[in-house]
Amino acid sequence: MALLLAGAGPASAMEPGEALYALGARPGAVAPRAVAAGGAVLPASALPCAGCHGADGAGGRAEAGVRPPPVAWSALSRPTPERPAYDEAALLRTVAQGVAAGGRALDPAMPRYALTLDDGQALVAWLRALDAPRATPGVTEDRVRLGLLLPPGPRGEAFAAAFAGALKAAAPVGVFGRRIERVVAPAAGEPSDAVRLLLGEGVLALVSALPEEANAAALAAAGVARVPLLSVRAGEDMAPLGYALLPGAVDEGVALLRALPEPGRAAILAGNAAEARLGGRIADRVAALTGAEPPVVGAAELRAARAEGVAAVLALAPASGLAEAVAPLREIALPVLVVGSRGGLAAPAGAAVLGRPVLVGLGVPAEMGDGVALARFRAGEAARAGLTGRLGHAMGEVVVEALRRGGRGVTREKLAAAFAGPPFDTGALPPLRLFGGARGGGGGGIRLFQVDGTGRVLRGPATAGAD
Ligand code: HEC
Repeated sequence: MALLLAGAGPASAMEPGEALYALGARPGAVAPRAVAAGGAVLPASALPCAGCHGADGAGGRAEAGVRPPPVAWSALSRPTPERPAYDEAALLRTVAQGVAAGGRALDPAMPRYALTLDDGQALVAWLRALDAPRATPGVTEDRVRLGLLLPPGPRGEAFAAAFAGALKAAAPVGVFGRRIERVVAPAAGEPSDAVRLLLGEGVLALVSALPEEANAAALAAAGVARVPLLSVRAGEDMAPLGYALLPGAVDEGVALLRALPEPGRAAILAGNAAEARLGGRIADRVAALTGAEPPVVGAAELRAARAEGVAAVLALAPASGLAEAVAPLREIALPVLVVGSRGGLAAPAGAAVLGRPVLVGLGVPAEMGDGVALARFRAGEAARAGLTGRLGHAMGEVVVEALRRGGRGVTREKLAAAFAGPPFDTGALPPLRLFGGARGGGGGGIRLFQVDGTGRVLRGPATAGAD
């Protein structure tokens, strides 16, 4: 019981009746006295109703042969073979004297409470409230509200336009009679603040087109709040209800290394602590899949690694630092692999510095989907907005389909379960199984390209699975 109280949070945030039922006292009021089985007199805060009848009033588990029955008003106001229906006076008599409606003396396991008039009123109000369907944030009879996290500038605008277009095309009259409303967080500022702001607006779920680092912060905040977050690319750490269209840096690194004849003979080049951590993740996954663990090394250790038989180097640097990171490999003639979602844009610059092509692994499926979803995509503006348009459109199609799968009584949990379900047909991308959640990496779909110093793609794309 003490544990329940400790976990129940501040009473001031609750309705008076809820606080009395769940914690044993109305906010700011003294806890009523309770007489427990055996005659001990305790404050009701040591014996709150919820501890035995359940937070939802559905009844509890039997102890010493007596089961705390359901006490939500719908149950009490129905007669049973044991007793007539309760009214408010009968209920208050039961709580004060331990006598059930109809007159049967209850087992002493049901404590007796000395409630004030205000306590009694608040309690009855709460037992009635227990019957109301639990409101899901962001969902009303006629609308469902989503929060959008966008990068600043034209990329964010193009994404939002393609997303909106897909929602309109795939669900012209909404889903289950609910129109899909979007709230956009201001692009500037901390992602965690943006998440809090959107949660304050009452949203069912979040959709993020933020780049990797900002998205990681948003995922962390969404994880704490247990709100589903659908992002473009999987992060290193996915929130429990976090899902993504495309694989992330870890998946790309794993796919690149597994394309080598001997993945364990590659070295992972890390330039700082964050890259070393990412490298560690990739090495662990490769070890689990192949039994051989590639070492994570700094630039100074490259020569020694080469002497010890390392046959390729995986670079984790972002585009802004890729050319500099691979420069030491100019004289060390090892093949260089580039994690596309981090350094992909600078692959030509890296290849130019090296004087030889590099191999890029990128989680962007090359081909399109088909069927009605493809027709919708082709008909819309998004088709003219490049990759960003494809991603925004795909996200919209996924959200509509997930809302349908989540059903009329959609909740955050049901929506997340829908994200985890079978592949989504998006039109803008091949049918895809989302990445993330408790399941970890999803459906592979990483392309390998060989890129030279002029940006020419020499070979590829070749598909590689990440799992
Ligand atoms: C320590 C456990 C415990 C706590 C705490 C508790 N109850 Fe009970 N309650 C029981 C048990 C066990 C019964 C069934 C007794 C029996 O059938 O003889 C019961 C029976 C009842 C009944 C009778 C229902 C019926 O169908 O006849 C009501 C009403 C009730 N409790 C309300 C409350 C309320 C309101 C509170 C808090 C103010 C509360 N209980 C706190 C254990 C508890």
